[in-house]
Amino acid sequence: MSGPQHLPLHVAIIMDGNGRWAKKRGLPRLAGHKAGGENIRPVAKVFSDCGVRYLSLYAFSTENWNRPEMEVAGLLTLLSKKIDQETRAFHEQNTRLLHLGRQDRMSRRLSKKVQAAVELTKDNTGLTLCLAFDYGGRDEIVQAARRIADAGIRAEDIDEPLLARHLYLPDIPDPDLIIRTGGESRLSNFLLWQAAYSELYFSPVLWPDFGRQDIEQALSEYEHRQRRFGRI
Ligand code: FPP
Repeated sequence: MSGPQHLPLHVAIIMDGNGRWAKKRGLPRLAGHKAGGENIRPVAKVFSDCGVRYLSLYAFSTENWNRPEMEVAGLLTLLSKKIDQETRAFHEQNTRLLHLGRQDRMSRRLSKKVQAAVELTKDNTGLTLCLAFDYGGRDEIVQAARRIADAGIRAEDIDEPLLARHLYLPDIPDPDLIIRTGGESRLSNFLLWQAAYSELYFSPVLWPDFGRQDIEQALSEYEHRQRRFGRI
């Protein structure tokens, strides 16, 4: 397994392939999302056991509102159920839960639930799990620009650290490794600012099937990458 010096501090995952997983089994797409949701806690446990400190998961993008109404409603219900069913277990595992994204387009009830889960787990010292829901990288940068303008900050005082401090979760380090499951090779608007120097890893495995061996393979490949951050 990877030595600590070559272990990513922060791994971010684009959980793709739920729909195809369901289709292969002749099931509705939502059954794929349900299976995908069930894979979150086991995957978080493997990363945590390996020593990864931050895990970010892309569960719903700003563009996902354009999916059929039934699928959107299903994903919102799934989020609500997941919070009800899993917050306690995450809390008992000393996991700190954070939300990444907007809360102004979900119901007040769901937003309160999200905030309660964050509040309950805020002092936990184990894995930090950031769930990206109604998240878009471009949207995040736009919101940051708005907050900077609202604060009356002068143009000449705007630099990279200042902009970074206005993103959703300014205290979370940039991801060292971004994994996308499901065989596509793109970022799909995930963590655009933070991904500047992230290592990218694409796995053909569909998200509901992504398990310990696949994680170990990704971490082992990361271990051999040379990160130069623009230097030589
Ligand atoms: C991509 O698969 C996955 C999503 C858009 C949703 C991700 C959601 C989960 C893993 C579970 C939900 C968890 C919570 C907490 C709400 P896709 O539908 O694009 O798959 P496809 O490319 O095979 O069609």
